[in-house]
Parts: sequence; structure tokens; C-alpha cells
Amino acid sequence: MQNEISGTQPAGVMHPSILKVIEQKKALKEKLANIKHKIGVYSAKGGVGKTTVSVNLAYTLHSMGYKVGLLDVDVDCPNVPMFLGISGTFSDEYPLRPVEKDGIKVLSTAMFVDDVKKPIIWRGPMIGKMVREFFENAEWGDLDYLIMDLPPGTSDAPLSIIQLLDLDGFVLVTTPQHISAVNAIRSGMMAKRLGVALLGVVETMSDGSPKGGKEVADTMGCEIIGLVGNNRRFGELSDMGLVPVKEDERIREEFISIAKKITG
Ligand SMILES: Nc1ncnc2c1ncn2[C@@H]1O[C@H](COP(=O)(O)OP(=O)(O)OP(=O)(O)O)[C@@H](O)[C@H]1O
Ligand SMILES: [Mg+2]
Repeated sequence: MQNEISGTQPAGVMHPSILKVIEQKKALKEKLANIKHKIGVYSAKGGVGKTTVSVNLAYTLHSMGYKVGLLDVDVDCPNVPMFLGISGTFSDEYPLRPVEKDGIKVLSTAMFVDDVKKPIIWRGPMIGKMVREFFENAEWGDLDYLIMDLPPGTSDAPLSIIQLLDLDGFVLVTTPQHISAVNAIRSGMMAKRLGVALLGVVETMSDGSPKGGKEVADTMGCEIIGLVGNNRRFGELSDMGLVPVKEDERIREEFISIAKKITG
């Protein structure tokens, strides 16, 4: 029998703890078999538009007829529910049940605290455990796409996801700024080093001619899959819990173009 780590050694000679990890991974794979595509939206830099891209991409895919889940992997600073105008959904149900909003299944640690302003002050191992919970003990059901909004940085959350899941890949997000591009490149390099595909880069807050996005695409050898214009409507609508692609035709067109690249 082949094992999943080396592909050569017989499983019988492995330490029980390694076998247990392999078993757990196999069980998780079976549990998540009904999620066809798992996509992370990622950049090591904060505030570049990861949550904005995740939310609007999820809604666009849903509007195209796909079954979509949206997971807020920003465990300690969860923002997705606010972007969707979800409040008052505190639940102590277990296994975790995603909240359904506009036909999209949404899960976030913000739903597990009774006051969204309360800080979640956790060290790395707790964050890793929570990320596991999102997959091992959550009822996602059948999905075409699970979009995962990642926190900034290159440590616990993205690492946990890469270790746990067979990801389709990451969408990198950058603004036109060089510093933002460098941080997206860091994320891209981490993903590549760990064998995760890059689906492409989205430049947000763009003036229409790619800058940071081009820098990332050229360095990482990936495609620019979208330019999202600098538009104050994003901030205004999100603050009201309204989803920009539902409210603004121009924004919808920008995201349809991104979604088509992803589904294509
Ligand atoms: N294309 C855009 N034009 C103008 N403002 C934008 C655009 N995209 C996002 N924003 C605004 O930028 C801010 C940061 O966006 P967002 O929260 O999506 O970033 P983030 O990368 O998820 O941040 P964090 O790292 O804190 O999770 C928000 O106020 C959002 O409304
Ligand atoms: Mg965010």
C-alpha cells in the first residue's frame, strides 16, 4: 500500500501518530467531497480589499447560478458578517451551521460572539483549531464554490488552510501600490512553496491601468484576472451592510469579468 506522504513507503511501517494524521486528512477529504472548488482570497497586506473581493466574488458566482459558501477565515478580526449586514445571529449550535444570506452560506467567528466589538484574543494554535472546526464540524452541504476570505500575514490561518484542504488555489489581491504588490508577492511565494496554485491577481482601488497587479503577475508568472476601480461606493455600501455588486452596475460588471476568469 502507498502512503500519502512519501508515496513509496508501506503504510505499515509508519508511526501511529502519522497514520492518525493521514486518517484525519482522509476523513476530512471525504467530508468535504461535496464542495467542488475551494478558493482562498489572499494577501499578506491588510486593508487591500480581500474581504471586499471575497464578498463580491461570492455574490457574483451565486448570481451566475452557482451554489456558493463564504467562509470568514479572519478568525480574530472577522468582518464578513458586517459587510453583508448580518447581525444578531449569535449561535451556540454545534456542529456549526452556516447562516444563509441571499442564498449564500456564510460562516464567521463573528457569529459565535454576542457582541461583534468584543476582541477575540487568541494565539496561533487556537486560530489553527478554529480553522479546523470550520471544516471538520460545519455543515456546508453541496457547494460549487467555497470562497475563503483570509486575514493578512503569512502564518497561522493560510497555513492551516493549506495543510487541511486540497485548495483549487489563491486569488491574490493588491492595490496599485508597490508596497502592496510586494506583500501580495510574499503570499504568492508562500503559496507556491507549499504547492498551492495561483488563480491570478486582482488589482483593487485601480485607476484602470494595472500597476501593483502587473508587478505581482510579472513576478509570480500568473494572470491579472481583474481590475476593480477605486470607487468610494465600496466603502459607503459596505458600511451599510449592502453588497456593492447588488447595488452598482459598474461594480457588478467588474466582478462578472473576474468570476468568468475563475469559472473558466
Ligand atoms: N475598489 C475599491 N475602491 C475603494 N475602496 C475600496 C475598494 N475595495 C475596498 N475598498 C475599501 O477599502 C477598505 C479595506 O477593504 P477590505 O476590508 O476589503 O480589505 P481587507 O484586505 O479585507 O482588510 P483586512 O486586511 O483588514 O482584512 C474598506 O473600507 C473597503 O470599503
Ligand atoms: Mg478582510
